[in-house]
Amino acid sequence: MLNPWILPFVFVGSAIASKLAPSSPEVLLDYEPFGGKNASILKSPADWNRNTYPIFVHSHNDYERRVPVLEALSYGALSIESDVWLNPKDEVLYVGHDPFSLTTKRTFHAITVKPLMQAIDQANTANAVHVRNDASSLFADLQASVATKDSPWWNGYYSLGVGNTQPIQLMVDIKNDAENSWKKVLSALEPLRKRGYLTRYEYGKVIPGPIIVVGAGATPIEQVAGKHKRDVFYDCQLAELRKPGPKVQGIQYEWNSTLCPIASGDFASITGDYTGVHMPSKKINESISSVVREAHKRGIKTRFWDTPAWPAYARDRVNKLLLELGSDWINADDLSAIAKF
Ligand SMILES: *[C@@H]1O[C@H](CO)[C@@H](O)[C@H](O)[C@H]1NC(C)=O
Ligand SMILES: *[C@@H]1O[C@H](CO)[C@@H](O)[C@H](O)[C@H]1NC(C)=O
Ligand SMILES: *[C@@H]1O[C@H](CO)[C@@H](O)[C@H](O)[C@H]1NC(C)=O
Repeated sequence: MLNPWILPFVFVGSAIASKLAPSSPEVLLDYEPFGGKNASILKSPADWNRNTYPIFVHSHNDYERRVPVLEALSYGALSIESDVWLNPKDEVLYVGHDPFSLTTKRTFHAITVKPLMQAIDQANTANAVHVRNDASSLFADLQASVATKDSPWWNGYYSLGVGNTQPIQLMVDIKNDAENSWKKVLSALEPLRKRGYLTRYEYGKVIPGPIIVVGAGATPIEQVAGKHKRDVFYDCQLAELRKPGPKVQGIQYEWNSTLCPIASGDFASITGDYTGVHMPSKKINESISSVVREAHKRGIKTRFWDTPAWPAYARDRVNKLLLELGSDWINADDLSAIAKF
């Protein structure tokens, strides 16, 4: 039975609401008090990520999306993958799955670095340390008052509140000519570095930034592990963490989170070709759990690639299983499906 005391308030409430605002959100934007949908009062640095909940999803082959980077961010993905090819003829890094899918316009800079930079710029348009404008000077003291030594002077793409340091992970998969490609990747990151956006490693310490770059594929590990100061990290092999870490110039390094914030593994080979079509056996569970445990012991987050894509119920079953068994990143091609998962 309805509570007679509540009933009148419901009516009063809805009467006021219908008077103040039209019912459709589209129409709402044109509503007079703010001056129409283009009114500057309706613009804020947090605009782009309105209503997006950040998720530990890796946008696999991100460059293949209609709108690279920004589409993944619109779903809340916290990780983006770029496969890079160094073309020996012009020494430029291009992105694509294979050399047949490259075009002159689709460079690493244009498809990946620039949109990522613009996204973080957008979140920092009133940041007193990064830009000088009326808003940033007006709010400089207020911003300084909430800063601590653990909350760096930038806003992450997703507004997660003061001091939140969860970066967007950019995984750069080197496809050819490892040594030269790696040098090119480092110089292509300069616009992000210059703005202070890159997460850095300095003598055992990690200094957070709104982006963390992780080298994958043919990335030369000695160029990462052997450096005392760097702004790049390494994607370790999930199935190899029990083996000794890398040895660079006679020095033995360990697999840990300051070298690799993430470790990735081939799902099919780790699980003995589990397809997700049937329920997992105990043995399959243990094959997943044991590598996840080993990574977590070292503070490293886990990602399985080559997980089943079809049938959809098998794909979903595997992703669910991975989450249940404590794996961190979900590798996704279909972002809308995974965002609703
Ligand atoms: C609002 O901005 C959009 C995009 O810049 C433009 O196409 C549109 O004409 C503008 N509308 C009004 C009413 O100014
Ligand atoms: C990771 O290992 C390196 C040496 O290989 C060490 O300098 C660093 O402090 C370690 N980090 C953690 C979090 O253990
Ligand atoms: C495998 O792990 C899942 C998730 O924890 C669990 O629901 C399932 O019962 C396990 N299967 C077996 C055979 O242990």
